[in-house]
Amino acid sequence: MTDFKARYGPWALVAGASEGLGEGFARSLARRGVNLVLVARREAKLQALARQLTSEFGVEVVARSEDLACPEAPESLLGSLDQDIGLLVFNAAYSGVGLFSEVSSTDLQKILSLNTFAPLLLARQMTPRLIARGCGGIVLMSSLSGNQGSGNIATYAASKSFNTVLAEGLWHEMKGHGVDVLACCAGAIRTPAYQSAQIGGEAPGILDPGVVAEQTLDALGSGPVVVPGTLNKLANFLMRRLLPRATAVRVMSNTTKELTR
Ligand SMILES: NC(=O)c1ccc[n+]([C@@H]2O[C@H](COP(=O)([O-])OP(=O)(O)OC[C@H]3O[C@@H](n4cnc5c(N)ncnc54)[C@H](OP(=O)(O)O)[C@@H]3O)[C@@H](O)[C@H]2O)c1
Repeated sequence: MTDFKARYGPWALVAGASEGLGEGFARSLARRGVNLVLVARREAKLQALARQLTSEFGVEVVARSEDLACPEAPESLLGSLDQDIGLLVFNAAYSGVGLFSEVSSTDLQKILSLNTFAPLLLARQMTPRLIARGCGGIVLMSSLSGNQGSGNIATYAASKSFNTVLAEGLWHEMKGHGVDVLACCAGAIRTPAYQSAQIGGEAPGILDPGVVAEQTLDALGSGPVVVPGTLNKLANFLMRRLLPRATAVRVMSNTTKELTR
């Protein structure tokens, strides 16, 4: 834990921290003694979480309400912070569930702005700072749905694929500078967003947010991609390596067809 704080502290920024997995990341980082900048749109939730984490773990926590889907928000956010941030966890996402032929252009723009441009711009601003420090990390949240195309969430799945591939490239570029980059390709996570989008039963291998956050932070520095959970690791191997691509698309689409807004 002390090593973690020395390598990635003293401050981490968690983007999309007001609930679900983002809250899980905030809690796991606070437990490791790292101070936090928590970002999301709902300020009251962020403030309540900040108070909780400070009283439970004695860390400093700053809550910042921002809509990261706004094109200027990512760059102005980092520019306005004077904390020495050693770790960026980009967790915020918008899924815009629905058939592609019926999704509005506003939704398409929101998916791309939040899921791809925001992490891209934040990572771009962070990398020179981290190179100058000679240590630090970047975690980008991806998904097993980004391993192949997926019906009903085609744009979201493509945006998650972007995050995996971006993290792999940055991992390669940054490892010589002492900076660890990681994509977390998660399977289903028991978050409020998942629970409200899922009309059938829970997906096999579903994990609690705290477990995904812990396994992800533990994997930082051990390679470009982590898949939390044993069953998800098996599914990942099957879908990426064993099944023909068209079959993998069918299998994934079968699990995402039941998702609803
Ligand atoms: N849940 C799953 O089954 C699952 C599976 C695989 C991968 N993932 C990935 O894991 C991550 C977290 O998932 P989750 O289920 O916890 O998602 P979520 O409940 O939708 O939470 C996303 C977080 O992002 C924030 N957020 C949303 N829009 C934002 C915006 N425009 N600007 C700033 N913050 C924004 C939300 O807070 P506010 O509403 O307060 O802004 C919330 O704190 C996502 O990247 C998702 O793609 C999830």
